[in-house]
Amino acid sequence: MTPEPHFPTGTDDLAPAPPPGCPAHGTGPGGLHRLHETPDLRALYRRLREEYGPVAPVLLHDDVPIWVVLGHAENLHMVRTPSQFTRDSRTWTPLRDGTVKPDHPLMPHFAWQPVCSYAEGEEHKRLRGAVTGAVATVDPRGLRRHIGRATQRLVNRFCESGRAELVDQFAEHLPMAVMCQVLGMPEEYNDRIVQAARDMLKGTETAIASNEYVMGCLRRLTARRRARPEDDFTSHLINHPAGLSDDEVSQHLRVVLIAAYEATANLLANTIRRVLTDPGFRAQLNGGQMTVPQAVEQSLWDEPPFSTILGYFAKQETELGGRRIRRGDGLLLGIAPANVDPRVRPDPTADMQGNRSHLAFSGGPHECPGQDIGRAIADVGVEALLTRLPDLRLDCAEEELRWTQSLASQHLVELPVRFSPQPTQDVTAKPSHTPHPIPRARPAWEIGTVSAPPRPAPPPPEPPATPSAVPAGGTGRPQGAWQRFLRWWRGY
Ligand code: HEM
Repeated sequence: MTPEPHFPTGTDDLAPAPPPGCPAHGTGPGGLHRLHETPDLRALYRRLREEYGPVAPVLLHDDVPIWVVLGHAENLHMVRTPSQFTRDSRTWTPLRDGTVKPDHPLMPHFAWQPVCSYAEGEEHKRLRGAVTGAVATVDPRGLRRHIGRATQRLVNRFCESGRAELVDQFAEHLPMAVMCQVLGMPEEYNDRIVQAARDMLKGTETAIASNEYVMGCLRRLTARRRARPEDDFTSHLINHPAGLSDDEVSQHLRVVLIAAYEATANLLANTIRRVLTDPGFRAQLNGGQMTVPQAVEQSLWDEPPFSTILGYFAKQETELGGRRIRRGDGLLLGIAPANVDPRVRPDPTADMQGNRSHLAFSGGPHECPGQDIGRAIADVGVEALLTRLPDLRLDCAEEELRWTQSLASQHLVELPVRFSPQPTQDVTAKPSHTPHPIPRARPAWEIGTVSAPPRPAPPPPEPPATPSAVPAGGTGRPQGAWQRFLRWWRGY
């Protein structure tokens, strides 16, 4: 069965007209709301919940009908029931019958690709198995060490000036620096690849060229590691028993790089902004009532980096949240509305410490396999930034902050900050409020903790160093085995 041209099925009797002058304007045929014309999606989701309950019919560009799932339980049910709902967009009726044209603005989200995000069943298991297998080889301690070092390098670039713009100079760089390292191409991390990733996601005219640039890096990496494997994510992806082809490997590297870059950049920017603009939040952090990981988790509840996922598709006629869903109907996974569902969160301002049941990473068979990496980047990055720049403050009025909003996510455009200028620090040292003393040179065999007289740290190495980065002090001097062990153990 095919839904009526303009409505997901079962909604024709549920088409209220908006009140005249309604601020959540943008209504199309049948009085259904056009999501893309809505200036405030949160307000619209609230209103839809009141009007329709946990599953509401809405319109996308070109008045393409789709359901938006607002309820926490309904979203969970959808992602956990692969017998009824799939991520394979080729089953979506408006795509099959041509209602969704090839130039539809959301096509990049809907166009099926041979990667795990769109696969299901055995094929999904095969592709995802290779990704989760490679993720499992990432050593958490080594990862935290890379994140700590990458943070130190980024902060070193602006710490002496007393001001920075943290979206551009920090939040968008840190995930890319870390992921280039994890994938095994630290030499590709630079401003160009960050700019290319940003450009691809914005869908500007140069998006195709930027995509080609990123894919070029990933294809070359795949060829290098196929010829000579190393102990990195890419080599493990290639050597997984699932036997991915070169094309599958580079396409999955792209999924991983872009998912990690975009979502983690949002998470970092959102968490830091909250610390800077919410005195209660900062007081809890400073007073020790909240740890940085708890602050990050709260941000995942309040401002999930992906607000919706486009989309899931009904494989058969079914029911969800009291609505009759017809085979081939599309549904948006409503992460942001699910996280404020009054049935799980009667007081949306309550803190959710200790509760990780938000849907920021989705659930079911497609649940984000990189969530520990995303969390680690945010935890270590925010902690190290606040340690290095303890008096960090916003350098504009809070009302001046701007976001770009799309259906899938909301990005902070800029986060200007000020702080007392700080000297650069040794990138291999633990982040500190004060300049780090450089360890005294000592013979390789010496084991001990004899303190060295403090000396100013040298400028950071440029370009960013690789895993074989010079040891503390940037001098290449040998360190005590105990010190090296402690560094490895602590992760920085
Ligand atoms: C804060 C950071 C992150 C957030 C909020 C996030 C969120 C998500 C969400 C919501 C999905 C969609 C699940 C679905 O289709 O139902 C997803 C999928 C995915 N994510 Fe993440 N992600 C993050 C970081 C990462 C990182 C660091 C990696 C890589 C190491 C990664 C790799 C993936 C992959 C490969 C998928 C597709 C999984 C599948 O379809 O089976 N993500 N992520």
